[in-house]
Amino acid sequence: MLVSAEEMLNKAKAGHYAVGQFNINNLEWTKSILLTAQEMKSPVILGVSEGAGKYMCGFKTVAAMVSAMVDSLGITVPVALHLDHGTYEGAKACIEAGFSSIMFDGSSLPIEENVEKTKELVAICKEKGISLEAEVGSIGGEEDGVVGAGECADPDECERVANLGVTMLAAGIGNIHGKYPDNWAGLSFETLDAIQQKTGKMPLVLHGGTGIPDDMIKKAIDLGVSKINVNTECQWAFQKATREYIMAGKDLEGKGFDPRKLLAPGAEAIKETVKEKIKLFGSDGKA
Ligand code: 13P
Repeated sequence: MLVSAEEMLNKAKAGHYAVGQFNINNLEWTKSILLTAQEMKSPVILGVSEGAGKYMCGFKTVAAMVSAMVDSLGITVPVALHLDHGTYEGAKACIEAGFSSIMFDGSSLPIEENVEKTKELVAICKEKGISLEAEVGSIGGEEDGVVGAGECADPDECERVANLGVTMLAAGIGNIHGKYPDNWAGLSFETLDAIQQKTGKMPLVLHGGTGIPDDMIKKAIDLGVSKINVNTECQWAFQKATREYIMAGKDLEGKGFDPRKLLAPGAEAIKETVKEKIKLFGSDGKA
């Protein structure tokens, strides 16, 4: 059964660790992440961007696939199926489709509009027992075609949005989706600290988990981050292993062309990445 992310994140906040959100793209991705979370006895959040949802034939298909897979693989750790950077319409579609967690990203809207729409979704999600993530201050880099500059969120705006009754809050602290540029200034712990002081027990979300040095991840967790999103790093792991398989000519040997064989090294590589992250975030053994 899919669960809201509320309980797992409140536990993480209280226990000073973070739960990983790993984005999914297809059946192999989903299977690798679920099996690893189960092996590590860790709660897990499966992230689905609107683009990935479309690619996988729509949110209903995704919800049906994930629910069935949790069941047939015998997954007993808490699993939340979460819309990543959703629009208002996307959020409603995912609630309808059976997602157990939603992110409404109103960070590119004027703050008043972000507040209004978030408020409406808080009411709907509360009634259905679905967790809701809001965003203040845009995350840098590109996500589904929306490009953000990586600004730092205003702690007062964070307090205002946190008080609307959302489950968790994503706030920009200089983090960026995808590869960090060589001249990246690092996370702004000053901003994170100010946000944490204004938002109290609210679990904070760190997007752009790929490429953040381990010591920064640990410090962010110390300062109240309870959910960390990782996407690009799994893609790189999959790409590297698939490339090595083909470059070694293994697809040309015997039945190496069989998609089940061709996709296996990539799927194994994702497992390794997810395992490393779960250990780093400290959520192993917490399910
Ligand atoms: P990365 O692709 O940088 O890991 O970011 C993932 C993310 O934040 C999804 O919302």
